[in-house]
Amino acid sequence: MGKPKAVYLKAAHEDLISNESENTVFSDVLEKGVSRRDLLRKAGVGIGILGAAMIPGMGAATTLTAKFGSSAASAGGRVDLARLLRFEAVPFSTEDTIIVPKGYKARAFYSWGDAVGLNGNMPEFKFDGSNSADDQLAQAGMHHDGMAYFPIGDHTAGSKNGLLAMNHEYIDNGLLFTDGDQNWSLEKVRKGQNAMGISVVEVSKSGGDWQVVRPSKYARRITPHTPMKISGPAKGHTLMRTLDDPNGEVILGTMQNCANGQTPWGTYLTCEENWSDIFVKKGDRTALEKRYGISDKDEVYRWNEFDKRFDANKTPNEPNRFGWVVEIDPFDPTSTPVKHTALGRFKHEGAEMVVAENGQVAVYMGDDQKFEYIYKFISNGTYDPKKGTENSALLSDGTLYVARFNDDGSGEWLPMIHGQNGLTAANGFRDQGDVVINARGAADVLGATKMDRPEWISANPHQQGSIYCTLTNNSDRGEAGYPDVDAANPRANNLFGHIIHWLEQGGDVTGTAFSWNILALAGRDQAENRNHVANHRGDLFGSPDGLKFDHNGLLWVQTDVSTSTLNQKVYKGMGNNQMLVVDPNEGYFKRFLTGPSGAEVTGIAFTPDNKTMFINIQHPGEPPSGNADAKNPSQYSNWPDHRQGGRPRSATVVIEREDGDIIGL
Ligand code: FEO
Ligand code: CA
Ligand code: CA
Repeated sequence: MGKPKAVYLKAAHEDLISNESENTVFSDVLEKGVSRRDLLRKAGVGIGILGAAMIPGMGAATTLTAKFGSSAASAGGRVDLARLLRFEAVPFSTEDTIIVPKGYKARAFYSWGDAVGLNGNMPEFKFDGSNSADDQLAQAGMHHDGMAYFPIGDHTAGSKNGLLAMNHEYIDNGLLFTDGDQNWSLEKVRKGQNAMGISVVEVSKSGGDWQVVRPSKYARRITPHTPMKISGPAKGHTLMRTLDDPNGEVILGTMQNCANGQTPWGTYLTCEENWSDIFVKKGDRTALEKRYGISDKDEVYRWNEFDKRFDANKTPNEPNRFGWVVEIDPFDPTSTPVKHTALGRFKHEGAEMVVAENGQVAVYMGDDQKFEYIYKFISNGTYDPKKGTENSALLSDGTLYVARFNDDGSGEWLPMIHGQNGLTAANGFRDQGDVVINARGAADVLGATKMDRPEWISANPHQQGSIYCTLTNNSDRGEAGYPDVDAANPRANNLFGHIIHWLEQGGDVTGTAFSWNILALAGRDQAENRNHVANHRGDLFGSPDGLKFDHNGLLWVQTDVSTSTLNQKVYKGMGNNQMLVVDPNEGYFKRFLTGPSGAEVTGIAFTPDNKTMFINIQHPGEPPSGNADAKNPSQYSNWPDHRQGGRPRSATVVIEREDGDIIGL
């Protein structure tokens, strides 16, 4: 990378560094004279799977069967856990197709441009890129990412009929338009905007195979123009007010939606990640703008040329209205989404919710950029199943925390409360609104641990307080001028990434103390560069990103190695991106799926009976050097249609066993 004009916005952020604050927990360790090699040994091997006994309640002898008891049976359909993970792992692949193990089948069934299912408005996808902006508003957006399944009906009916809510993370003008960036116009800006946001589609397995229900009363597209409410400390804040919204209470739209979450009251959480890439601020930028990566260069979407909201010289507070977790009720297409500002503003990856034993809710969240942080929000109120979507109020009142991972395997959640621990006016925080709007700056002050790009977080449904997070990679770790390695991020030039695990003290997700270990340092077992040496068992992978427990307690891992990185020597022979599965107590990774050429594998959801899995394939055909070439859009992939004169399309894929049994056998 390094050629911003020619790089996908999605990928471009990987090289942006905006965290120049000086807190690195490793400084203490350096003073004690601990060498990097010692740390690698201690953190990578000693705290790996083999060192699991240091985590109370997570000893290697604790088996899935012993841990789950009857709850696994009720949640997952009476699975004999000893039967799981018997499938034959698939090898690396460079084929432009999806490969799953023998006995499984996979099929794309909701691709970019397919009708979402609005009554009386179901435009067909045109393979030459000539659909209008209005067409796109009634069709699936581009670049499917995070996704959740909402059953309709009880366990049985809801395993054959439900809603999929999913993110359309970003766009590629080279695929979206017949003539790419040429003849730029307001119509093109609108089409691009309509290709982002969220889809809600109804899916059903009525006639043997899963299909999108069209039309459906639930079908909905949400875009960067959909009106949204604001909750929490930033509602009405001076930094949230604009000429079009002088009270700072209504925001138009959501965008660059990456991973996701799901609430027990049946709503979808969608997370705004690389929103800052869309804004332009020419000339001097404020400290806040720099900290969040607002660019002073021309940007590749060019929305600012026809829509002043994205020109931060004209609407300086508009960027403050993005970077939030947004809640959507997928069952009510007339409902107004809510941006929950109490959960903090950053480049949100996902939002994993856990209900504590006392009913308070915890939301775990990563900020996906090099050297950024892991956060959690704890509600003040408690969840009441009888209140349905009124429980949404829990997300507007609570405490935000940021994580510090100590090098001895302990950790603490640092509260981000105005007036405490330096979050004062003297340091630029006038009120709690300032704290959440500049959550990154507040975390800098508190001395949180800078991580190697926190991506998805998933909580073990069968062990309260046992949480996993993918740290996808960080090529700058330990390089000159950048933070050094630390125990939680133990490899310099971390090209392969790792998966970290923590256990909240006493299993209590509302607490502030935890212990942590590293589930896996991804990468090769043997490599010429010691920084790439892996410690995990099983099949090779790199850049873990998507991460999700299924109902039976298996942990699914999806990879997103950028095409440019795949071309590097250390990745040679490792094929396309993939999905693996691991029993976290055993720590043996098995490759379950390989994706089409140039695609990442993402978005994961299961039906309640765990017999159907939905995933998303994003950016098939991502060129090594940047955006698709409008003159030759299928140069690197023509998945899933493989049609002459077509173009690659991101798509939702349904995966089942041929015998209809449980996924993971
Ligand atoms: Fe949108 Fe961090 O991946
Ligand atoms: Ca991701
Ligand atoms: Ca990704």
